[in-house]
Amino acid sequence: MSTTDGYVPGRVERDYIESIGRVPHAALLAIEQAAEPENVPILDRAGGRVLAALAANRRRIVEVGTAFGYSTLWMALAQPAGGTIVTLDPDESRTSRARAWWRQAGIPDEQVTVINRPALEAFAAGPGDPAAGALLQGPFDLVFIDALKDEYQAYLEALRPRLAPGALIVADNVLWSGATADPVSTRNGAAELRAFNAAVLADPGFVATVLPVGDGMLVATVRG
Ligand SMILES: C[S@@+](CC[C@H](N)C(=O)[O-])C[C@H]1O[C@@H](n2cnc3c(N)ncnc32)[C@H](O)[C@@H]1O
Repeated sequence: MSTTDGYVPGRVERDYIESIGRVPHAALLAIEQAAEPENVPILDRAGGRVLAALAANRRRIVEVGTAFGYSTLWMALAQPAGGTIVTLDPDESRTSRARAWWRQAGIPDEQVTVINRPALEAFAAGPGDPAAGALLQGPFDLVFIDALKDEYQAYLEALRPRLAPGALIVADNVLWSGATADPVSTRNGAAELRAFNAAVLADPGFVATVLPVGDGMLVATVRG
């Protein structure tokens, strides 16, 4: 490895980080155990730890893609008292199970509000829409994007006017198992994620990078 190569942690280093991290709440472990056999895609644990660290002082969070509520719970447990999360996923069969795990972890129902609609449809709803409008007006201190890969750019465009000064944008899977770094990859979503990453990292309104954690986490801070 040359001194300019990135350092990719191996199993020993990952185990070391895990050994000094706090033991995840039992409800987080239960979600991990439920998601794997059912092939429900969730953040990996290292990504959960990153998300928790980023969510710690973020009072108003919006999440795109709830699934079993694993990422939601990492953020909810880290948020300050009185913080809220609005999370979107059209799959109610998943989000109703998520609610049970959030309750197991002691998260009050009023802390996390679920909107069971496709995100872009919900973002397009006006402030008067009873199911989504008022909840999605913002301003938000943290946006976590983890749903349809070809819609990441559209999620960000919809949410951008609703960001608080200094807000954080986090997006998972932006390395897409290496497909975004391969200019000839034809994997579904690769071209869109490549364009999304390039656009955010070049945007003068953000200070942004991609953390090589899990499948790649884009982190962008709104300037000003
Ligand atoms: C990768 S999973 C989310 C995992 C979750 N963030 C976690 O780490 O625990 C993606 C989720 O996006 C949901 N989804 C699909 N289409 C969507 C849409 N148009 N808007 C919002 N969510 C959508 C899927 O139902 C799925 O549960």
